[in-house]
Amino acid sequence: MNDNQLIPFDKGNFAFDRNGLHLSPAEMQAVMNQARKMMDVMVDYSDLRMVYGCALKIVRTKFEVLDSEFEVRNQRNPINFISSRVKSNQSIIGKMIRRGIPLTIENMEKEIQDIAGIRIICSYEDDIYHLADALLRQENVTLLKRKDYIANPKSNGYRSLHLIVSVPVYFAEQKRDVPVEVQIRTIAMDFWASLEHSMKYKQEIKDQDTIAARLKSCADRIAELDEEMQDIRRQIESGKDVPSEEEELLQRLGKIDRIFED
Ligand code: GTP
Ligand code: MG
Repeated sequence: MNDNQLIPFDKGNFAFDRNGLHLSPAEMQAVMNQARKMMDVMVDYSDLRMVYGCALKIVRTKFEVLDSEFEVRNQRNPINFISSRVKSNQSIIGKMIRRGIPLTIENMEKEIQDIAGIRIICSYEDDIYHLADALLRQENVTLLKRKDYIANPKSNGYRSLHLIVSVPVYFAEQKRDVPVEVQIRTIAMDFWASLEHSMKYKQEIKDQDTIAARLKSCADRIAELDEEMQDIRRQIESGKDVPSEEEELLQRLGKIDRIFED
């Protein structure tokens, strides 16, 4: 048996009778060794999930900070909401099996870069790039991969900016560099992606081509809406009158109030 397997314990190797498991001292020793190995793997695995969870907290805080700063400077929030997850056991193992990766903790860490995933839902398209650039300028954020499905949408119409970044996480005794998948999209892009994702599971339906074409057409219209909404916002911003001295004073007080709100 491969010592490296996630679940090394195989009870098929041992003798059972009506009274239960009968083992010689040597066999008992082997069982205990296997049990110990299994425990080690399980401890390493839950440790690893904790590490990814901590990396998510760090990246979430970075985005919350950027959102607060932007709010004070521009009187609006670029981020609508943030969701994050540590990938489920089922999805991790499923992905490794699909890709033919032997199931070890080391391979999981090395090959699966979306175990920690965070999704940032923005109001407008330009907010996406503003946030991504601000994140990547931080000296403890390393970009590992960038896929711009907004500049280059997928053929089905999917749009989002994907980043895989590595962030340091400091523990009591050690520092770990942890990869996190960041998906940044607008509310409209998220609306399309969520519905399209939920429809993917119903593969048995007929007329797949028509459905794909209709979804693509929705994605195109949504992209136009995103552009139009951003344009409207820019028009409003550029049309704002220069504030009077009194208005400016009130605006500055508003900013100070917002700083102390949280
Ligand atoms: P994965 O094996 O899915 O991680 O693919 P990948 O490594 O090629 O990464 P990619 O950046 O293309 O996509 C990663 C994630 O983006 C997916 O897990 C989904 O959350 C999302 N995504 C990518 N393509 C689509 C799509 O066509 N529709 C929807 N709804 N989501 C998508
Ligand atoms: Mg993925």
